[in-house]
Amino acid sequence: MKDVRILVLSGSIRAGSYNTQLAGLVAKHAALADARVTQISLADYPMPIFDQDLEKEKGLPEAARKLKAQFQRHNGVFIASPEYNTAVTPLLKNTLDWVSRQSEQGEAPASAFKDRVFALGAASPGALGGMRGLMGLRTIMEIGLGALVIPDMITVPAAGSAFDEHGELTNERASKMLQTMVRRLIDEIRLRD
Ligand SMILES: Cc1cc2nc3c(=O)[nH]c(=O)nc-3n(C[C@H](O)[C@H](O)[C@H](O)COP(=O)(O)O)c2cc1C
Repeated sequence: MKDVRILVLSGSIRAGSYNTQLAGLVAKHAALADARVTQISLADYPMPIFDQDLEKEKGLPEAARKLKAQFQRHNGVFIASPEYNTAVTPLLKNTLDWVSRQSEQGEAPASAFKDRVFALGAASPGALGGMRGLMGLRTIMEIGLGALVIPDMITVPAAGSAFDEHGELTNERASKMLQTMVRRLIDEIRLRD
């Protein structure tokens, strides 16, 4: 059976981030379903604010090259994205913009987003659970970057009280949604064998 390798990341590097908690929970359930999981923090991939002049002068930052290589080592990626003013965080957008750029001659733009399957989720203290930010992220991923994103998404509203002491979701329906999403992600990865 195909080796399932899933990269998990959060669009927040805040201490105590709900989205990082959500990413951790997806990582746990993917590992329970026998996927090989790597959870990373964008804090370990610092990149300057994207500027085409800077790109022309210095090329891709080392962190963008490393993150691109991480994407390429995995056949599935889960992104947990906070919602800032109904959109993704500047950290996540900046990261995606750098990673979308060509690093070597002849390499197709956005190649790191091709040939792998993506799943999206969000957590917010608000009532909508970051859903509006996810709609924007889906547009970036699918239309902007040509990524295959599964339809299932997990949103966690009222995130301050949504996780129990084991990091599981207290709401049974939400917990089932998360597990269904993880299963679908793994199934889609295997289908692309
Ligand atoms: C600049 C800014 C804008 C925000 N806008 C929204 C928003 O539009 N919708 C929402 O649900 N939460 C919004 N929030 C609250 C975030 O959801 C909250 O800070 C959340 O904890 C961030 O995710 P994290 O816990 O993973 O860091 C905003 C927060 C910031 C700092």
